[in-house]
Formats: sequence, structure tokens, C-alpha cells
Amino acid sequence: MRHHILRRLQFMRHLQLHDALKHPTRAAHQHQHQHQPRVAIGIRREDPLRIWERRCPLTPDAIETLIAEEDVDVYFQPCERRVFTAEQFIKAGAKPHKTLAPAHIVLGIKETPLHELLTDPVQDPLSNGLVPRTQVMFSHTIKGQPYNMPLLSRFLHDPSVHGRDAAHSALLPTLVDWELLTDMDGKRTVGFGWYAGVAGALEGLNSTAHLHLQLGVASPFLSTPRPHSAPLPQLRQSLRRIGEQIAENGTPASIGPYIVCVTGNGQVANGALSLLSELPVQMVSVADLPALVADPSTPLNKIYVLHAGQETYLKRKDGGAVSRKDYYAHPSAYESRFYDLIAPYTTVLINGVGWVPGYPRLMTTNETILALEKVQQLSKELAESTQDSAAGTRDVMKGRCQSFADISCDIEGGLEFMHRESTLSEPFYSHKPAQFPAHLPALQIMSVDILPTSLPLDASQEFSAGVLPYVRALVRKYKHHQHAERFEGSDFEIAEAVERATVASGGRLVGKNTWLQESVEKCKAAGLAASAGTTTAVGTPKPGQKKILMLGSGMVSGPVVDEICNRKDVHLTIASDQPERNGFLCNGRTNATGVVVDMAKPDVVEELVKKSDVVISLLPVPFHPAVAELCIKHHRHLVTASYISPDMRKLHDRAVKANVLLLNEIGLDPGIDHCSALALLDSIRKDKKEVVSFTSFCGGLPAPEDADVPLKYKFSWSPRGVLSAALNGAQFQLNGKEFSVPSDQLLRSKIPNLPVSDILQLEGIPNRDSLNYADTYDLHPSKGVRTLFRGTIRYPGFCDLMYAFRQIGLLDTENWITLRSWATLAPQALAVKLQKPVVDVDEAGAEAFRAAAAEFVPAETLPQMLEALAWLTNPTDSSTTKLPPVPSTPEHPIDLLASLLSARLSYAPSERDLVVLHHEVISSDSERHEEIHTSSLEVYGDATHSAMARCVGLPVAFAALYVLDFINVAPRGVHGPDAPHLYTHILSKLDGAGLQMKHSVKPYVEGKTVEARLKTIWQ
Ligand SMILES: NC(=O)c1ccc[n+]([C@@H]2O[C@H](COP(=O)([O-])OP(=O)(O)OC[C@H]3O[C@@H](n4cnc5c(N)ncnc54)[C@H](O)[C@@H]3O)[C@@H](O)[C@H]2O)c1
Repeated sequence: MRHHILRRLQFMRHLQLHDALKHPTRAAHQHQHQHQPRVAIGIRREDPLRIWERRCPLTPDAIETLIAEEDVDVYFQPCERRVFTAEQFIKAGAKPHKTLAPAHIVLGIKETPLHELLTDPVQDPLSNGLVPRTQVMFSHTIKGQPYNMPLLSRFLHDPSVHGRDAAHSALLPTLVDWELLTDMDGKRTVGFGWYAGVAGALEGLNSTAHLHLQLGVASPFLSTPRPHSAPLPQLRQSLRRIGEQIAENGTPASIGPYIVCVTGNGQVANGALSLLSELPVQMVSVADLPALVADPSTPLNKIYVLHAGQETYLKRKDGGAVSRKDYYAHPSAYESRFYDLIAPYTTVLINGVGWVPGYPRLMTTNETILALEKVQQLSKELAESTQDSAAGTRDVMKGRCQSFADISCDIEGGLEFMHRESTLSEPFYSHKPAQFPAHLPALQIMSVDILPTSLPLDASQEFSAGVLPYVRALVRKYKHHQHAERFEGSDFEIAEAVERATVASGGRLVGKNTWLQESVEKCKAAGLAASAGTTTAVGTPKPGQKKILMLGSGMVSGPVVDEICNRKDVHLTIASDQPERNGFLCNGRTNATGVVVDMAKPDVVEELVKKSDVVISLLPVPFHPAVAELCIKHHRHLVTASYISPDMRKLHDRAVKANVLLLNEIGLDPGIDHCSALALLDSIRKDKKEVVSFTSFCGGLPAPEDADVPLKYKFSWSPRGVLSAALNGAQFQLNGKEFSVPSDQLLRSKIPNLPVSDILQLEGIPNRDSLNYADTYDLHPSKGVRTLFRGTIRYPGFCDLMYAFRQIGLLDTENWITLRSWATLAPQALAVKLQKPVVDVDEAGAEAFRAAAAEFVPAETLPQMLEALAWLTNPTDSSTTKLPPVPSTPEHPIDLLASLLSARLSYAPSERDLVVLHHEVISSDSERHEEIHTSSLEVYGDATHSAMARCVGLPVAFAALYVLDFINVAPRGVHGPDAPHLYTHILSKLDGAGLQMKHSVKPYVEGKTVEARLKTIWQ
């Protein structure tokens, strides 16, 4: 292969040289462009929220071919879950790239998360100008899916955002959808349906084997491999072995002939039938079914497969002749007799036929009742008619019509009782619909909706081979600005197919997709309507579901949604003023609804509160009391991750009276720190030891490798919250003395070399009023407690730089400035502080600013502060983070700084954050022997969620579900997680989610404690 490629490269170079000699002007032209970039292809990392998504649109082999034959650059976004490793890609000639910023053509499988979508243009490989990118994916927009309209709108010109700027819209990216790639006859040419069929058949056999096990029978299919466990040839081989066993020993007599019914005529059915062909299969017809089960001599060393086309079970209601054409013209004239003719005989149904409203369902829930009644009836009849006693002990109808592998996975669709999809982690479940009478059994359902992802290697290989010609056509479009009409033969067909598969281009919907404008407008109108006070629903709660409302969909909300939406008996409404983010979090889930709200319009919020059982507020802190008022008014319980503010505390009595729980401080800090501190103190006291010192430090930081930025800090939660925290004063007790740090001295009170980690160099800073915790933790001086200290963790240098920012007025919360440019933020803030103009941005101005700032900023920090401001306000070309737009209305300097920092100090997709929590408790026993107990947590962010989001979001979700499930034992009024049954519940759920505190106990050694470190500063 390598030789072949090298020869080809040499040949191409030879051709180029030859060409250059023959065509000097073309050679000059090529020379002129020798510094132009080559066409670049980017292979996207799939959405980290889709944990099973391991497929990739191009294999390393295909990449190698493209590089050799099309002379392109290929970049890939690192992803450790992907079926191909980074080494394989690098060996093929591709280069890792965090954002894929250089890519002209960006390829992915599923839809790109909105915040990762690149919409900016790239440099034209043929000129010095810019060209739009092309994004190719299964966008799930082409049926107007509401949850993906925000994605589609990113490709479209929006006059309210872009004005009349036609040049801008011409440079918006092009969206090509794999699903729309068809041949000249309109047949889809690439897709994964066949693999869904294969994987679905395997999961269906597995699921049925579990059902049989519950019915007391072990079938040979118990050893069916899970589809993700091996490449396809090996899976087939395993099934063949099961088949050989069946051919030799038969299927268990106690379940009678094993009958598989496959519905559908497309790739799904083909895949399923192909896999089943590894078994000793006998194809049967509908007419054969009654005799197959009734005849005791039916051989059991075969698997009976019925491929049921629609014509076998669809009947005209008037008894007239059935035809496909007539059916599609008059679907309501037809009914399905599947429940009577086929379902009662099937051991497992593999459903590969889709359903659309208006057409008869394959089987309604009521018809399923009839089918199961028929199974019971046949069972009785067969038992009565069986004479020989041996056969009389078995029930050949056992388990029939109970196992469904619904590959089409239309929720409450063709199989009406199928009420939810299952996951590859838990592929099947048992479900007894509410309408079922008591004597009928529950159904075993396999309804995984992402089946092809479980065969990532085979599916990616075939997909890659299928899409390669289309990718080449896209490359040539960039290379030569060549459109379909200029290609010939099959090249023309391929290029034209790409044009047909284009959903949007140049800021407009194209081809057959123009109708989608209406769906996009509806979605936008809903967003706009929010300001007029209405809401937008994406999904709707089902009867019987409990309802949680989450207000705020910001940085820590992702894990809350994941955790709550895992509970199918709960419906979550996600409400904030960020419609795109709400839609993103709903992510097609059937039990989540996105609603746009503006807290300035409380009547909309009130309606939502009224309709909920529990409300979560992840809004900025100042909004919590207003939400709590609504909760009291409508007798709803509230959960927040924020400190109990004085305004919140005032609501205690009214909340008790209204029988309402307002549960706060259930994030990380406050939250996990509380729960774990209470559990630790409790266990020490149970050992009859007294607590003499309690110190607790917590902080969210970038992982060390991603911390090389000013402040050595990046934002994983509300930036405004981080800055406001720097304005608090602090109180604490140390070695028997009370200390008070005024707010203007907080950042001067850093604790260098904080001994809370063996590896990390950290500094600490006191966190608010630690003495507030004396009651909660029962840590009073009267009980012998000498130290009570809570602190925040940062990397060294944070406090000095933040202090400098504060000193020049950047944390000002009172005055307003109308920002001229980001470069003038600091001079403008300082001017407001000094009450006189400071400087402008030219060089002389810079010197004047330095001089003015030097009055307030310690000399040793000044150069570092100037460097930080320059870095923050001047992103280089290679920066992955950009400046935010300059606001046109006046804002407080602190809010402007928060916007600037949150844009410039944000995490790139591949970067990780880190949460560190460390408690140190010194205990003393009856003989005054002291011990050091530590309890600590270190969590790194992963590709799915930041560590901060997990550490805040998970306890919030667990608390909300706790309130939903155990409200009778929960307290009422304003609380933190102080009740033992609550904090132990939260800690055990956190353990289960991998957030486990580590404990240690050591004998006391003078000078080796956090307390001792604090004493070196305050004594
Ligand atoms: N206990 C802890 O350890 C901890 C840690 C981090 C965050 N928190 C708290 O959790 C909450 C959420 O934090 P985050 O980082 O996700 O915050 P964020 O700033 O990222 O998100 C705030 C959300 O509120 C929405 N919002 C703001 N103003 C609105 C308005 N007027 N109308 C409607 N929606 C509005 C925003 O659109 C966003 O969805 C905050 O209250 C924060 O203080 C606690």
C-alpha cells in the first residue's frame, strides 16, 4: 500500500513538473499560490454526551488515500472513545487539531453540538480571499425537528443579526446532510440501516433469552454476543456456533418452535435477515404459523423465520383488494391484522418497519392485549388436545408475543406500547402498559435507538467507503471551484448528489429544503415570543410523569439534565433565556422540554412553577428569592446550589407555613463540602472523639496542563459569581482567636503553599464567614474547638492579579461605563475610579495608563497585570477564544470584565478542569491524643462534562429527585443539606456516580497540618 502511494506521489510530482514546463503561465500561477493552504478536511469528535458514539465518517485507510490522491490536509479532533485511535490517524497522515479551525470540509456522523459548530469562513485555497466551510453530518434537521432548528438557523442569514450584509451571508457555512445522499433514482446511498438490523437482531435474541430465563427456560441464545463486543465476522461466527448447537440439540422443547418475525423491506430488515442466516433457518409464511406451534412433531433443530411484508398483515377495512399504491393513497382505509395473524405465534418480533401518523400501526396496545389473550387461549386449547403426558407438561405458547426488538424505535408508534427507547448500557426492559389486565404478562422490549453505534468498526468502514466519492467531489469543489455541471460521467452524478444533499448554502435553504424556513421561523418566533411572555415546548409531559422545572441552563446544568432525564417517570422542563442552549440540552430526549423564559416576565415563570412538582433554580443568585416566593405561593419545593442569602433566610417561616422545602447549598461548595464535612464530623464523634480544629478548602481550577493563562483560571461556572466572590469579606476562628478580613483586604490574605495536595502547588484564600458554620457543624469554642476555617483554592498568582484588577476599578459594581473597545476597558474603569479621564490606547496613552495604575497596584504585580490585560484584549490569530462583541449600552466594569474573562478564559473542547476539595479535622480523645482526619476529593473533567458541572449538577439532581421521592421525610422551610438522611443519601448517590471522598487518619504531627500553615499567616 505504502509503495503504491509513494509511486503515485512521485508520478503526480512528475506530472506537475511536466505540466509546469509545458504551461509556463500555469506554473507561474501555481508558484504564486504555493503559500496558499491546501484543501483541509476535518474529522469531528462526536458530541461527548453520546457516550456510545464511536463511529467515524472516514477510516484511516480512506484518509491515507485522500492525502495521496487529492493532496489534501486532514485534521482530526482528538477523541479517545472513537473506534480509530489517534495513532492510526497520525500514521495515515492526519494531524490532531483541537478545534479543526483550518478545515474547509468538516465531517462528522451526528449533529455538531452548537457551541462547537464552526461557522466562520476559511482561507480560499485558490486565492487570498475567504470561502465558506462545508459541514457534513446527519443533521436531523431535514424533517423540521424542532430541537435542531437552532442548529439549522446557524447556517442561515438572519437579518436581525447580520443586517443586510449579503457578503456575510455568502460566507456562512454550507450544510450537507448524509441522509440526503441518493442515486439518480432517489435511493439513499449511504446510511447505517443495515447495521441497525444486524445489531438489533443480536440485541433482540439476547433480550428474548433473558425473557425465557425469567420464564424458567435457558435457551442457547443466552450466549448471544452483544454487538459492541467484537467485529462483525466474529459476531457472526459466535452466532453460527449457537446455530450448530441448535441444529444438533434443538431449541428447548418447553418453549416450542422458535419463531422469529422480521418486518420491513429496507436495509434494517436486510441486516437482520442477513445475521439470522447464520442460524439453521427455515423461512415460513403466515399461513404456516398455526400448524408450526400446534404440531408436536415440528422439528426444534431449526429457527423459523417469517419475513412479514406489509401485504401479509394489512387488510382493507371493507374487505376489498389490497395494493401498495392504494394503501399509500388511502392509509385510513386499511387496518393491521398483525395482532391476530402473526403476533400470537412469534417468539420474538424484529420490527424494521417505520410508522408515520395517519397510517395504521403494526399493533396498537389494545390489539396487543387481544394477541396475548389469543396466546393464552391457544395455550389452553393445545394443552387440552395434547394426549401424551410428556408433552402435556410443556407449554409451547410460553413467552410468545412477549418479546419485541423494535429497531424502528418510533416511540408510541408502530408498536403503540413502546413508550421509550432503551440504551446500549441497558438495552432491554420489561413494561406492562397501564391498559393491560392483571392476568396478562409484561412485555420485554429492546428499543435501542442508536444500534449502529454498537458496531462502530464495521459500520464506519462501510460508511467511509460509501462517502469517499462524495468527499472527493467536495474537495474538488474547493480545489477548482468546480460545480456539478462541469464534471463528467459518474463524477457528475456524484457531484450532483452532493448538491441534492445540500440543505443550506450561502445563508439560504436550498433545493427541496426551502420549506424548512417555516420551522426555523417558528423556533425563532418562540425565542422572540419569550420576550412577549410565551413559551416554546419541544416535548410534552406524559400522563403520570412527575414534573421538575429547571430554571437556568448554564454551565453546570448538563449533568442535572442527564441525571434527571434518565428517570423516565420524570419530565424535565428546561427554562432560561437561552433557547439554543435549552434545545441543546433537550437533545431529542422525549422527557425534556425547552422553554424560553425571561425573569423580567415573572408571569411566564409562575405558570411553569405552578405546573411543576419540584423547581430547581440554576439562575444567577439574585433571582433565587423571587423564585422561592413563587414556590411558596404555589406550594412547590425548591432546590438551589447557592448559599442561603439573607433574603432567602427571611422566607423560612412562610415556607414552613406553606409546607414547602426551600433546599439550598446543594452544589459543590456549598454542597458536597457540607455533606462530606457533616458525615466526617459525625463519624469522629461516634468514636467518642472531640473535634478541636476544622479546616476546609475547595476550588475549581483548570487542569495543570490547561492553566497557562492569566489568573491561571478558566471559567467552569458563572463568571460573575467568581468575580463577586472576590468582593466578600471573611471571618474565621484560628487557634482560639476570631479574625475578620474586610472585603478590600480579602485578596491580600492569600495563603501560599497550601498543603492540601501532594502534587499541586496551590494557594488559598478565606471564604466568607466560616463562623456561620459553628451551629451547623456544632463547632463552638465552648466545646473546645480552637479552629474553624473555610477557604477557596486557586493556583499561585491568582490573588495578586485579581487584587490588581480590583485596584484599578475592574471589579466595580456601582459605576457604569460605555465601553469603547476591549482595549480601553482597563483605562475606562480606572478613569471612573479616579473621576477623571486617564488615557487613550495609543502608545503615549499606554504609558499614562501604566503610570496611573502604578498608584494603586503593587510594583511587583504591575508588569504581570499589564501583560495579562494585553493578552486578554488582543487575541492572536491562533487563539481558540475570541473577544466578545463590545456592548453598546453602559455596564458595570465587573460585568464587562466577567464577559471578557468568560470569553477569553473559557475551556476549549479538549481541555479539562479540576475540582479539589479537602477537609482536615483534628480530633482529640479522652487522653488528649490528637489525630488528623482528612477527607478529600479530586475530580477531573472529561469529554462529556466539566468536573465543576458534575460536582454541582449531580448533587442538585440527586437532591431534586430526593425531594420528589422522599418529600414526606424531608424537612420544611429554608435549609441546607443538614438532615442526616438527606446528606447520607446524596453522598451514597455521589459514590455511585464516581464522586467518592477519600479518607485518611494519621497521628497528629506538629507543623504538618493545614491549621499550622494558617497559623504562620495569622497569629
Ligand atoms: N454550590 C456550588 O458549588 C456552585 C458552583 C457553581 C455554581 N453554583 C450556582 O449554580 C447556579 C448556576 O451556575 P452556572 O454556572 O450554571 O451559571 P451560568 O451563569 O452559567 O447560568 C445561568 C443561567 O441563568 C440564565 N439566566 C440568566 N439571567 C436570566 C434571565 N433574566 N431570565 C432567564 N434566564 C436567565 C442564563 O441564561 C443561564 O442559563 C448559580 O446560581 C451559581 O451560583 C453553585
